[in-house]
Amino acid sequence: MSIIRIHDKNFKPYITAEAIRKKVAELAEALNKDYKEKNPVFIAILNGSFIFAADLFKELTIDAEISFIKLASYKGMKSGGQVITSIGLDTEIFGRHVVIIEDIVDTGKTLNEFLPQLQHQQPASLKIVALLHKPEATIYPMKVDYSGFEIPDKFVVGYGLDYNGLGRNTPAIYQLLE
Ligand code: IMP
Repeated sequence: MSIIRIHDKNFKPYITAEAIRKKVAELAEALNKDYKEKNPVFIAILNGSFIFAADLFKELTIDAEISFIKLASYKGMKSGGQVITSIGLDTEIFGRHVVIIEDIVDTGKTLNEFLPQLQHQQPASLKIVALLHKPEATIYPMKVDYSGFEIPDKFVVGYGLDYNGLGRNTPAIYQLLE
């Protein structure tokens, strides 16, 4: 693996495809155990989580449903701005066990705004699985129930994550070279 260039920035290899595959399998194993016979509803947050959600969902051996929602709170390389729901949830979650699938939890703003909307619909339980978590970037404290990799507060791309629209289509994750 070598350095890649996206727009005006260089990124170095950070988490290999193989390490991601192993981590996804571990997360799925924990979910298979904890949600056996609970028929959970997974809600993947687009766009960033589409690759992680697909890989994770394939590893689930339990009965499970999946739905997708699109929110936005990110422009360029700084988190923030309004959280907008642009694709609504089409699944009834009242009384259901819900697991949110996120690519990365950064400041926590997105989930901080979205979770109360879901709680309002009275799910039986509500948990979060995130491939990446930047604890140092926390502004809105968020319990990530199933966390893949805890990473420093540095910008990353690949495996679904983008930098201004590009860089999502790599099997590995890359970190900004400063
Ligand atoms: P939060 O609301 O600050 O927790 O940010 C969550 C969203 O910001 C994620 O779902 C990503 O779409 C985006 N994001 C946060 N950090 C990064 C990063 O390092 N690279 C690419 N996107 C990121």
